[in-house]
Amino acid sequence: MQKMDRPVKTIAAMSKGVPLLGRSALLCLVFGLIAPPTGPAAAQNPSQPSPSGYVGDAACASCHKNESASYQRTAHHLTSQLPTAQSIHGIFRAGSNVLTIVDPANADGEPGLTFKMETRGNRFFETAVTGFPPNFQQRTESIDIVTGSGKRGQTYLHWQNDQLFELPVSFWTDGQQWINSPGYHNGTADFSRPINPACLGCHSTFIQALSDDPATNRFQPDTFVPGISCETCHGAGASHVAKHTGKPSIQSKVPDDTILNPAHVSRDRQVDQCARCHNGLQRNPLSVTFKPPPAPAAEHPDVHGNQVGLLERSRCFLSSPSMTCSTCHNTHAPEQTAASYSAKCLTCHQWQSCGVAKRLGHTIASNCIDCHMPVEPTTVIVSETAGKQVHATMRNHWIKIYPGAHLP
Ligand code: HEC
Ligand code: HEC
Ligand code: HEC
Ligand code: HEC
Ligand code: HEC
Ligand code: HEC
Ligand code: HEC
Repeated sequence: MQKMDRPVKTIAAMSKGVPLLGRSALLCLVFGLIAPPTGPAAAQNPSQPSPSGYVGDAACASCHKNESASYQRTAHHLTSQLPTAQSIHGIFRAGSNVLTIVDPANADGEPGLTFKMETRGNRFFETAVTGFPPNFQQRTESIDIVTGSGKRGQTYLHWQNDQLFELPVSFWTDGQQWINSPGYHNGTADFSRPINPACLGCHSTFIQALSDDPATNRFQPDTFVPGISCETCHGAGASHVAKHTGKPSIQSKVPDDTILNPAHVSRDRQVDQCARCHNGLQRNPLSVTFKPPPAPAAEHPDVHGNQVGLLERSRCFLSSPSMTCSTCHNTHAPEQTAASYSAKCLTCHQWQSCGVAKRLGHTIASNCIDCHMPVEPTTVIVSETAGKQVHATMRNHWIKIYPGAHLP
């Protein structure tokens, strides 16, 4: 995966024991909706999984059954997990658990490099073997954190004491295959790529970093709260839970001052909340705090898109002051099929006003998406494994006319 930095504010906040809330937390503070988290509580008390005020998803479930039940199946909830046979999608069955690196073009690669993925008891390991008989060298490390729900793929992380590293082999869902982890140099058995706070800042609820350095890979392992949770977007829930516990559950018309409902803030603030993790790496309003991605990154696979930057260029967005990500996405439920989002287009457009309506007739009504938000391979999304390229695709969020676009 390519290296990247995050807004300084987020990292500073994180290392002080504030959950990885970034701009949404700032948002909540600005709106005075939640009390500021109380200093480095988690750092002082290792048995406390996250700072005070945060109650966890289970607490919300008792009153918000609908949001909570479907949320369990979302990519957000599943985007980081502890390793289990269910959470790891990689295949450990003999015959499918080996990645052999053959790359004659890479003369300085390690000779005879092979990776083997194995289970022992209920633990999961990656082993790199190099050399030729009888002089084998090998290194084995355990999978300790799973990143990625597996929609495109998963990358696995490994603890060495309090240091977190990316393992060299990832699993790619398309083709159900093991590949070099994104950004890895083909032909190397590299176990030393550090995981910085930004990574779990987007892919988890909380982990306590042990330093303010945005490049640190030292954390307090037992503070890890996997997955993105209700409070990542809604802010700490303790006072909200306290306010409603034991009270009849009525829905009032006024905003609840103990919790953030994004629907009640301006359009820009709503989109900002998603932009924290969905503005890709190229473009950011706080771009002074970002380093440009290193040039070689473009040649290596990545799974990261920029839906915010692209949507913001669309005429739909520019001409509709109320359009947000929530116009189409319900973040409390798993994604629907792409074509089904056509119904969202039809809340503002009529199919008859499409330029090809006369020619193609009513059939276009059931799929605006593939022509106006085509799936495209992106330059940053290419995996290079043993001379083979594995491509990934993204749904282009620049809604516009793509000449030559057609239904699949
Ligand atoms: C004991 C019951 C209870 C629990 C637990 C609870 N809520 Fe609520 N929540 C409510 C009620 C009742 C309302 C409606 C309040 C109103 O309309 O004034 C509400 C409203 C909300 C709203 C909308 C607020 C608004 O201003 O529109 C959000 C967002 C929310 N809850 C999120 C959460 C989250 C996240 C959690 C877990 C941290 C949670 N709730 C836990 C009872 C609860
Ligand atoms: C804390 C970071 C973070 C925030 C905030 C966030 N997302 Fe995400 N989002 C992610 C990550 C990480 C994934 C990839 C999950 C995976 O597949 O592992 C994702 C995936 C998605 C997906 C694809 C889901 C799927 O099933 O493939 C949608 C849609 C999405 N996010 C919409 C939103 C919207 C809308 C918002 C704002 C309301 C938002 N996200 C806020 C991190 C975030
Ligand atoms: C990725 C961000 C994100 C996550 C995670 C998230 N929500 Fe929300 N939530 C939103 C947004 C955005 C809205 C406003 C949607 C809209 O504009 O209608 C919202 C609205 C709500 C509301 C108000 C609904 C209403 O009808 O007024 C409740 C209650 C709520 N969320 C509960 C939860 C609970 C419980 C969880 C965890 C199981 C959760 N949310 C997780 C982004 C999120
Ligand atoms: C700025 C936020 C951000 C950072 C930093 C980030 N990711 Fe992601 N990641 C995302 C989002 C958002 C997605 C969903 C794909 C998309 O739409 O870009 C994603 C997708 C993924 C996926 C594929 C998930 C799936 O199921 O398809 C993996 C694996 C992944 N990221 C791992 C990592 C790792 C490992 C790091 C750190 C080295 C990292 N990411 C850093 C936001 C981020
Ligand atoms: C919230 C309302 C809204 C939604 C939802 C919406 N649009 Fe639009 N769209 C607009 C407006 C307003 C314009 C600008 C019309 C104008 O300027 O004449 C527009 C413009 C367009 C254009 C012309 C773009 C250009 O560059 O010339 C296309 C194509 C389009 N929309 C397709 C879609 C499709 C497909 C969807 C669903 C994926 C969609 N829209 C969803 C409001 C919306
Ligand atoms: C006009 C409708 C519309 C709007 C608005 C919209 N999306 Fe999407 N989004 C889609 C469709 C359609 C898909 C494809 C779903 C699928 O393939 O199942 C999608 C897919 C995604 C994915 C999965 C990535 C991928 O390439 O499959 C992410 C992440 C995402 N959207 C984030 C966002 C964010 C963040 C916003 C706000 C900036 C947003 N979307 C606004 C329609 C929309
Ligand atoms: C087969 C591909 C295809 C499908 C399906 C399709 N469109 Fe289009 N659409 C186009 C093309 C191509 C144009 C430009 C036509 C032209 O300029 O002659 C266009 C133009 C448009 C425009 C701009 C019209 C203008 O006068 O500026 C809108 C709005 C639009 N489409 C909306 C939709 C909606 C909504 C749907 C789904 C109901 C849809 N389209 C389905 C290909 C498609």
